[in-house]
Amino acid sequence: MCPFRTVWTPVTAEIAVAPMMDWTDRHCRVVHRRLNPALRLFTEMVTAKAVIHGDRERLLGFDAEEHPLVLQLGGADPKELAEASRIAAEWGYDEVNLNVGCPSDRVQGGSFGACLMREPGLVGECLAAMGDGGIPVSVKCRLGVDDQDTETALDAVADAAVAAGVSAIWVHARKAWLQGLSPAQNRDVPPLDYDRVHRLHARLDTFVGINGGIVDADGVRAQAAAVDGVMIGRAAYQRPGLLAELAGRGSFAERFAVARSMEEYARAWCDAGGRLAPVLKPLLGLFHGEPGARAFRRTLSEEGHRQEATPAVLAAALDRLEGEAARTAERAAQYAAETCAEGVWTAPAHAAPAHVADARDAGASAPAARETGRGSHTAPLAAE
Ligand SMILES: Cc1cc2nc3c(=O)[nH]c(=O)nc-3n(C[C@H](O)[C@H](O)[C@H](O)COP(=O)(O)O)c2cc1C
Repeated sequence: MCPFRTVWTPVTAEIAVAPMMDWTDRHCRVVHRRLNPALRLFTEMVTAKAVIHGDRERLLGFDAEEHPLVLQLGGADPKELAEASRIAAEWGYDEVNLNVGCPSDRVQGGSFGACLMREPGLVGECLAAMGDGGIPVSVKCRLGVDDQDTETALDAVADAAVAAGVSAIWVHARKAWLQGLSPAQNRDVPPLDYDRVHRLHARLDTFVGINGGIVDADGVRAQAAAVDGVMIGRAAYQRPGLLAELAGRGSFAERFAVARSMEEYARAWCDAGGRLAPVLKPLLGLFHGEPGARAFRRTLSEEGHRQEATPAVLAAALDRLEGEAARTAERAAQYAAETCAEGVWTAPAHAAPAHVADARDAGASAPAARETGRGSHTAPLAAE
């Protein structure tokens, strides 16, 4: 791996964060947006019935900064989906998306989600009805379910979607097995088949995006070369720094600034009567792999859950993290100076490893990172 800060090049395809129940709530989406202004963000799935009959502020409320934002709908009744799409448009969503991929029992009980892979005609009707909202309509589907042939099953759903005028087809590049696997297993056990999605993309003029098992910038770039869009699920939530990296803003200092900006957001949310813990949750993985990250995570998850917790929990955790970054930078500066004195380190300042520059940006004055174990490759940069 190259020890130097590499030149960032933009990803050519659209990048989206996948809809994830209990994860991509409004707070999470704000964090993701602040990390990367170019993302297409999806809500958690909300059933059309809930949109029509439920507490709309709780289910549909979002922050203006989240745009472009897609409301994912669950359902299989064209009339309900049309009504839900109209409501979504009134609330200011940019797009509605139909879930044709969720395998959970609850969703199967309602005969929607992944089971719709067996009913391309109904998928087409639902998507056409969703057009009543007057905003773009997209679909997120699987390659097929159970023993379906993925060539014919995916083509049938995709062709119905194209005929209904969708703006995008997002494909989770594996089947769903509707019997015997939990939803979590259905995200890992059925094998991925990216080539199948690439073939679909080659056959259609409509936007085709890919999802499933894409966990790092290299994976995103590889898929971006093959399709129109790349959708990241678990990795975006567990290591949101990836989203910042894809925007060319992945340094510690830049991620830290986003976390700091969430203090004010948390204050406003709590002042309006909201709970603190859900605001902190999407920040847990933001400093993954950095010195002090474990303590940061522990503080947020343990103290943030207390009844009496206030946004000061976040401020204090960030202060500690900043202190840790500065101490690490000091130690690394000392290490670099010693190595330099031994005649090993002669590289110019601009050639410092990325994490060295990061720690310096974060408030320290010199190279960083022996402690992280990632500094060991500072070895003979220009040994003479
Ligand atoms: C906690 C969780 C909740 C999810 N909820 C939804 C959902 O509401 N709608 C949906 O279409 N997919 C949902 N998914 C599936 C993801 O959108 C995505 O297709 C899947 O995780 C594969 O992508 P990944 O390998 O990048 O994580 C969920 C996944 C997770 C982990």
